[in-house]
Amino acid sequence: MGRLIIAVSGTPGTGKSEFSKKLAEKLQARLLSLNDFIEENKIYTLDPDGTKSVDIQKLRKCFAKKARDLSGTVVVEGILAHLLPKKIVDHVVVLRTHPKVLELRLRRRNYADAKVRENVDAEALDVILWEAVEAHGVDKVHEIDTTNLSPEEAVNQFLLVMEGKVVARPGKVDWLEEHFKIVE
Ligand SMILES: Nc1ncnc2c1ncn2[C@@H]1O[C@H](COP(=O)(O)OP(=O)(O)OP(=O)(O)O)[C@@H](O)[C@H]1O
Ligand SMILES: [Mg+2]
Repeated sequence: MGRLIIAVSGTPGTGKSEFSKKLAEKLQARLLSLNDFIEENKIYTLDPDGTKSVDIQKLRKCFAKKARDLSGTVVVEGILAHLLPKKIVDHVVVLRTHPKVLELRLRRRNYADAKVRENVDAEALDVILWEAVEAHGVDKVHEIDTTNLSPEEAVNQFLLVMEGKVVARPGKVDWLEEHFKIVE
């Protein structure tokens, strides 16, 4: 049986988990959480202060090995999903959320101020999008701005992309100037 792997990435809070669950339902695909995969396979090192640093090379190797046993359509979601090996991944979806909306979502999760700021700045700077394009090239990377879409609508948009009816090439959103505007 053929295999199609769809990686779903994005800054924390952009809706990867909700989007991926709905996408997997619609495609009758297997859903894999990259966070669970990292935990199960202990693909991290523990820093002296107890924080976990994911070993990206090990993640890529372990996932390549796992992919040999995968068949059918697989949705793999997580903040590192865009760094999975190019040879294995067929589509990379990068979910985007306007920094102001993302900030509210992260505050609702009771993230510390510094963590909110770090993530919101990274979203404004397109960090994940650029990493995805660097790793996979523009053609395989699909950028979906869900700021004004429900998870269901976002999934429907991606399904149109898969059918070749719509393009979602990277570079549509630009929140940089607005986000970092210096008030004089
Ligand atoms: N399209 C959307 N519109 C409005 N709210 C959304 C949308 N998608 C997700 N949310 C809400 O935003 C929050 C974050 O969603 P979700 O947990 O799916 O994000 P995530 O990208 O998986 O985050 P993490 O990286 O922490 O796992 C949730 O409260 C969810 O209900
Ligand atoms: Mg999640």
